[in-house]
Amino acid sequence: MKTIISTLLIVMLVGLAGIAQQESAGSPQSSLETAPQIPYRIIGTMSQLMVDVIYPTSDDIFYIVTRPPSNEAQWTAIQRSALTLAESANLLMMPGRARDQDKWMTDARLLLDAGNLAFKAAKAKDFDALVALNEQLVAACTTCHQDYRPNYRRRR
Ligand code: HEC
Repeated sequence: MKTIISTLLIVMLVGLAGIAQQESAGSPQSSLETAPQIPYRIIGTMSQLMVDVIYPTSDDIFYIVTRPPSNEAQWTAIQRSALTLAESANLLMMPGRARDQDKWMTDARLLLDAGNLAFKAAKAKDFDALVALNEQLVAACTTCHQDYRPNYRRRR
């Protein structure tokens, strides 16, 4: 039994060594080609993401008191906005968009958390929960703006 296992081990190790040798034999060009390709691309600028995606979708939640959803279609619109807003936090954390791997990620997570809660509340058609989330959502925007938005008024 013991010999079978050690024979298997040796066969495996020899196999692995062969693979390693093949890989190191490749030119720098071919190792670039075999490097995993990142399939996503940055399409919008930070400013476009804010103005066209984050601002209008968050507005739907900020102004829910003045525009309370009263039918199925309006609730569907709120759900869509909340989902878009929550997912936009993931877009902010994408490599290439994230400004750093530290405070930026913590700030973006505030939006992810608030957006996630908003989406849950919207799915449950819980008007009061959405109203109650306003403060948390505003805080998510202002925290990052104080840290990263140029010329943004700082809290005293
Ligand atoms: C993780 C960081 C982060 C979060 C969270 C964030 N923002 Fe921003 N926001 C920025 C940065 C950085 C800029 C400056 C972009 C630029 O000018 O290039 C900005 C700019 C803006 C602008 C001005 C864009 C322009 O070009 O005029 C608006 C509007 C805006 N954000 C809305 C929001 C709202 C609303 C929220 C919350 C629902 C939010 N942002 C959450 C980082 C963030």
